Amino acid sequence: MAQIFTASADTRLRALIMAALGVFVFTITGAYTFVGAGHSVGWVRDQPVPFSHQHHVGGLGLDCRYCHTSVETSSRAGLPATHICMTCHSQIWTNAEILAPVRQSLASGKPIPWRRVSRLPDYVYFNHAAHITKGVPCVTCHGRVDQMPLMAPAHSFQMGWCLDCHRNPLPQLRPPADVTRMDWTDWNPDASSKEEIARVATAVKSLHPDTLTDCNTCHR
Ligand code: HEC
Ligand code: HEC
Ligand code: HEC
Ligand code: HEC
Ligand code: HEC
Repeated sequence: MAQIFTASADTRLRALIMAALGVFVFTITGAYTFVGAGHSVGWVRDQPVPFSHQHHVGGLGLDCRYCHTSVETSSRAGLPATHICMTCHSQIWTNAEILAPVRQSLASGKPIPWRRVSRLPDYVYFNHAAHITKGVPCVTCHGRVDQMPLMAPAHSFQMGWCLDCHRNPLPQLRPPADVTRMDWTDWNPDASSKEEIARVATAVKSLHPDTLTDCNTCHR
């Protein structure tokens, strides 16, 4: 049978196929890494409104619970209802183009479609109230939110990271009333007296650290 391709053309064809395959694999891995980057530390997402925690928390001094209203009582912290923004933005920046999606949301009754920044896989159980009521501060898991012009993850929420604390949570706990304070770097557990740590621990009722590393605590 006559050869369709010369030997050198055949080599070139092989090279081309290999290159195409390489590009394909590269693209798939690239896309995968990119999607996975939703959890990357410091990675900012475009939002329908460029809401700034730096302005609203750091600048205006609003407490987290003003907007994330269910953080102490439910597994989810919750994202703010539009009328909470309108408490102020019906008075200030009322015609700003940047706030148009907020006004539309209020008029239509449809929530602002915020894009999620920190998210766990579905097979992991997490509960905000369980942490907040025991005195685990927001800043430990979400970082210096008060310094973020746009929200970015501070940790990648790997299992090992959760377990690091679950093995010995006590030094990481704060008085539950102060969980939303951001400047906890001022508080050094190593330099704190045993009494102070004990006081925090006593404030934390019914802590049961013995089951905190069981698989079914987080995988139910
Ligand atoms: C307690 C009052 C208050 C609430 C509640 C509030 N804002 Fe603001 N917002 C302000 C003030 C004041 C400014 C101007 C800040 C500045 O220029 O320093 C502002 C500015 C903004 C800006 C302009 C960009 C910036 O950060 O300077 C956007 C966008 C914005 N707010 C969105 C929102 C959204 C969305 C909500 C609801 C989740 C909200 N705000 C809730 C008071 C508020
Ligand atoms: C004025 C309202 C307001 C206040 C106060 C506020 N937030 Fe938010 N927060 C928002 C809005 C709106 C979003 C959604 C947009 C975004 O991701 O920036 C959000 C998103 C977040 C997210 C990302 C959630 C996700 O997975 O998408 C975290 C974490 C968060 N806030 C933590 C905090 C902490 C901690 C505080 C207090 C130090 C705080 N917020 C105070 C309005 C607020
Ligand atoms: C022990 C770590 C930890 C602490 C402490 C913590 N969070 Fe979170 N937060 C998470 C994790 C993990 C997620 C992702 C949950 C998921 O995807 O199921 C999350 C998600 C969120 C979200 C997204 C929306 C939602 O309803 O879950 C907001 C908003 C938020 N946290 C705010 C806060 C605020 C405000 C505080 C302090 C009052 C706080 N968090 C304390 C770990 C923590
Ligand atoms: C800085 C410390 C710390 C970190 C980080 C942390 N936890 Fe916890 N976690 C605690 C403490 C303290 C408790 C409460 C223990 C108790 O009540 O005995 C708790 C309790 C829990 C519970 C039990 C809730 C219930 O309903 O009883 C779950 C589930 C949980 N954590 C999941 C996670 C996951 C998932 C992560 C990582 C994304 C995480 N935690 C990160 C300190 C931490
Ligand atoms: C404190 C919470 C917590 C406890 C306790 C825990 N896990 Fe996880 N686990 C996580 C989180 C968060 C993830 C998702 C993030 C990641 O992949 O690291 C995860 C992921 C996993 C995965 C998927 C890993 C992968 O690479 O896809 C397996 C398997 C797993 N856990 C098994 C276990 C087993 C077995 C135990 C008990 C020895 C356990 N886990 C205890 C929080 C926990």
